[in-house]
Amino acid sequence: MIGPALLLLALVPCAFTAQPGAPSPVAAPLRELQWAQLNLLQTTDTHGWHGGHLQEPSFSADWGDYVSFAKHMRDRADADGSDLLLIDTGDRVEGNGLYDASEPKGLYTFDIFKEQDIDVICSGNHELYKQNSSENEFHITVPNFKGNYLASNLDIYNPETEEFEPLAPRFKKFTTKNQGIRILAFGFLYDFAGNANNTIVRTIKDTVKEDWFQEAIRDRDVDLFLIIGHVPVRSPEYTLLYKTIRAVQWDVPIAFIGGHTHIRDYTTYDRKAAALESGRYMETIGFMSIDGLSTDGSNGIAPMPAKKGITFARRYIDNNLFSMYHHSRKNESTFPTEHGRNVSALIASSRKSLDLDKLHGCAPRDLWVNRAPYPSDASIFTWLEESVLPQQLSASTEREGRPALAITNTGAMRFDIFKGAFTKDSTFLVCPFTSGFRYVKDVPYEAASKVLNLLNHQGPIMQEAEEKHGLRSWMLVPPEQGFARPEFMPANNEERRVRGAGQQIPLAGTRGEKLELIPGYTTRDDAGDDGDDTLHSKIAFYNVPNCIQAPVNFPSRTADGVLQEPESVDLIYNEFVQAWVLTALKYLGEEYSSDDTEAYMKGKTFTDVITDWVSENWGTDGEDCP
Ligand SMILES: *[C@@H]1O[C@H](CO)[C@@H](O)[C@H](O)[C@H]1NC(C)=O
Ligand SMILES: *[C@@H]1O[C@H](CO)[C@@H](O)[C@H](O)[C@H]1NC(C)=O
Ligand SMILES: *[C@@H]1O[C@H](CO)[C@@H](O)[C@H](O)[C@H]1NC(C)=O
Ligand SMILES: *[C@@H]1O[C@H](CO)[C@@H](O)[C@H](O)[C@H]1NC(C)=O
Repeated sequence: MIGPALLLLALVPCAFTAQPGAPSPVAAPLRELQWAQLNLLQTTDTHGWHGGHLQEPSFSADWGDYVSFAKHMRDRADADGSDLLLIDTGDRVEGNGLYDASEPKGLYTFDIFKEQDIDVICSGNHELYKQNSSENEFHITVPNFKGNYLASNLDIYNPETEEFEPLAPRFKKFTTKNQGIRILAFGFLYDFAGNANNTIVRTIKDTVKEDWFQEAIRDRDVDLFLIIGHVPVRSPEYTLLYKTIRAVQWDVPIAFIGGHTHIRDYTTYDRKAAALESGRYMETIGFMSIDGLSTDGSNGIAPMPAKKGITFARRYIDNNLFSMYHHSRKNESTFPTEHGRNVSALIASSRKSLDLDKLHGCAPRDLWVNRAPYPSDASIFTWLEESVLPQQLSASTEREGRPALAITNTGAMRFDIFKGAFTKDSTFLVCPFTSGFRYVKDVPYEAASKVLNLLNHQGPIMQEAEEKHGLRSWMLVPPEQGFARPEFMPANNEERRVRGAGQQIPLAGTRGEKLELIPGYTTRDDAGDDGDDTLHSKIAFYNVPNCIQAPVNFPSRTADGVLQEPESVDLIYNEFVQAWVLTALKYLGEEYSSDDTEAYMKGKTFTDVITDWVSENWGTDGEDCP
């Protein structure tokens, strides 16, 4: 582990690559990469953010910049005889206008994504929710990364042969270019069950028993097992894979590269097995390096036996040009490659075709998912509850004027709203879900008014939702909060259990002074608190309830501010929470089935409800934001 050898670099304006309009990164103290024999760069859970973050300087580099960065890092490896591999662990789709705004979805992103030279790549769960998106993997992404895309536990229905077949090869063995390190690589997905029926996700428990796997892991001519996956690094799935490999290879180093939980994380399973996970949304380029590996001698030097000590190191690189220039030892004139510039230009023209910068309105202040307490004026949920939902849902024509209670889970909000431009792009970032609202008519108020409380507490209805429908309460909250659940924490580590995701704070707009610490990620993992490349000051993280509720069309308040209670109300909810809501009503003695529910406002999506409110209330008649 290197000490905090900090560098204070001068402030450089760097608007030469990245997307037009992206904010320049702010100079900050940096920690170096610990370059070694084998170096890995990881992206994961990019969810379409290949254009970078246009309102956050810390994450303002785009996929084209990453193409340039990777080229320089490969050159560095070639120059000093080390090796570099690039890895992506899935969830490349859904969550950003660049992917979601086109018809069909993903029209532009596949051609952008394929420009990066990725050595080992796999699928996430988001590629599999819809038949279309998994078929896009099969027909586009797998061929684009032929030989590098791995699907160790994933099959897809091939309409041509009318049979299920592996989406891609189960594993691959290769030897690194410069060192001659013999690597056996796999690409897994966690035990995901929400996929469309044209794919089959084999559980890890079943997969490790399959003959091909048992045979593959007994290969004695391997210097490193590289297990990549859309799998959290602290998960029963990776624990089982680790134990299964260790049972037959007691000494071979194993690198696990994980994803899915949207956090920066690093842990070790034993002296020779470590695991890295690199966050979300193109905020983080993860770096892992490994020293002390044996080699096969193909580098012209006699085969190198494994040293006694294997050293792992890790770094979470903030995805901006300040960090990229520094780690690649380039500057604004020497950094961009022609290839990288071309990719940035392709992203810019795609964003333009999609009209993603179209302005819906100007947000007068920041509204936070987890960075402000709920309720409060800075909470996005208070804003939904007091403004957006009551105003928009009361415009329903089918139930004109009927009093209603509208419930939504907090996980329906995926991203903060920043003061300033609220664009077409923002709508997809804040609420990328295509589902709408449903309702049950004329529910006695006595019961309807108690539903929220049941949804927000662990109790019998949560248990029943889990037993009957496989629904877990963490599915209701934002992922960064929900993934702090105990099953992702090692059972014997109380400290991690307590701190949960509270240390894993995503960043907001940078308002800091030049070289003062900028608020941002202050990650603590099993190697300590020096993993982030950029030194940041800490950001607060507030847990929010599972669900919130807005009164709609309620009679005016009495003089002392109390709501007058109606006899019965329509109970409106976003489609996602229907099973929980009906379970709660049953528990309260009001039995309804899904046949008793109907689409509210003709199924208008949550995203459209928010967009309309923004246009009506924050609209500018074409003027730019102040
Ligand atoms: C599925 O993909 C096909 C071919 O790209 C497209 O025509 C169709 O509109 C897509 N369907 C959906 C629901 O996106
Ligand atoms: C998936 O389900 C649909 C509707 O039930 C059915 O028509 C289709 O044949 C199923 N597809 C596969 C591959 O099983
Ligand atoms: C960038 O680096 C090159 C090569 O070291 C140097 O010649 C050039 O002056 C630098 N440019 C800037 C803007 O610092
Ligand atoms: C970049 O784009 C230009 C113009 O389209 C093209 O001529 C050139 O070959 C591209 N270069 C690379 C490295 O992709």
